[in-house]
Amino acid sequence: MGDCWSRVIVEKPFGTDLATAKHLNKVVNNTFAEEDTYRIDHYLGKETAQNIMVLRFANAIFEPLWNNKYIEQVQITCAEHLGMEGGRGGYYDKAGALRDMVQNHLLQLLSLVAMEPPTDLSADGVRDEKVKVLRSLRQLDTPELIKENVVRAQYTAGHVDAKQVVGYREEDRVDPESMTEAYVALRVHIDTWRWSGVPFYVRMGKRLPKKATEISVHFKAPPNVLFNAIPGAAAGGNVLVIRIQPDEGISLRMVSKLPGTTLRMEPVKMDFHYATSFGKGSPEAYERLLLDAMAGDATLFARRDEVEEAWRFIDHIEKAWHESEKAPEMADFVAGSWGPKAADDLLEQDGNSWRRL
Ligand code: BG6
Repeated sequence: MGDCWSRVIVEKPFGTDLATAKHLNKVVNNTFAEEDTYRIDHYLGKETAQNIMVLRFANAIFEPLWNNKYIEQVQITCAEHLGMEGGRGGYYDKAGALRDMVQNHLLQLLSLVAMEPPTDLSADGVRDEKVKVLRSLRQLDTPELIKENVVRAQYTAGHVDAKQVVGYREEDRVDPESMTEAYVALRVHIDTWRWSGVPFYVRMGKRLPKKATEISVHFKAPPNVLFNAIPGAAAGGNVLVIRIQPDEGISLRMVSKLPGTTLRMEPVKMDFHYATSFGKGSPEAYERLLLDAMAGDATLFARRDEVEEAWRFIDHIEKAWHESEKAPEMADFVAGSWGPKAADDLLEQDGNSWRRL
């Protein structure tokens, strides 16, 4: 019997708020020890999400710049062209974008980008550092802060992939008076020495023009003294883009001199594509994660405290949306466009704009 083990794999959603998540964790941990509990977040099984730590900690050139001295802003976008096909409206209309994807997938990506180097690669070594990021999120705990930093929206009828699609409230199994968001954009601050003053912009939406998930790290522009009179010089700072999906890879944008006798400058890209560099496809996220669970490696699974910290942050927003008289309004955008104007305004207030995907 010595070789026997039992483990439980739990699929999201892990509760619908902090209280239900704590209850669920308690129930599960009554029977299974935390080290035998595997909470799947399939974004952690994506090859490119796993590569974030390698990119940061196995290359010497990025980490010295990975802080508020050199980075101006970070954007995390998860765009989906799908709406509520296949009867998903029933589940989704009770969840919404914030619970469905930000509480888990997007905050996990944010933790990987923002974490300190772990002391080792053990499951707890890595998760200890990720949970510190979640603990350091500046809480948006008043309706005013939520109004300033969070935009929620629903799509109206439009076109996606040249096909006509209905608006969110007309979708199958969605309440025609629904106040559930199918799009959300947030400005998040991480109150640590490394990240103080650096906004992290996070957005997720259904019925956007295409399916694409990426993280872009925007470095500060160089001093504007040498080339400032040259055409193209205002192109800005370097941008490192981590493409989680599709076309998995990494690109670095830099400014280059245009060939010719006059000095003109233009942005160019250094690009790495998994498909061309490694040839073969990566295993599906779930294949990798199920194998890890069987092998007893919990590194790519969410620990109890991570899930609860993420809910603590999300709960304030959900509560204000649903209970406060001062709840910020529900914006709208035409299906097949890049989201509501309010989300563009959110970045414009800081002199920034969303990267075009
Ligand atoms: C799921 C969400 O967790 O992730 C869905 O419940 C979403 O709403 C899906 O569509 C996206 O996963 P992927 O791997 O296709 O980006």
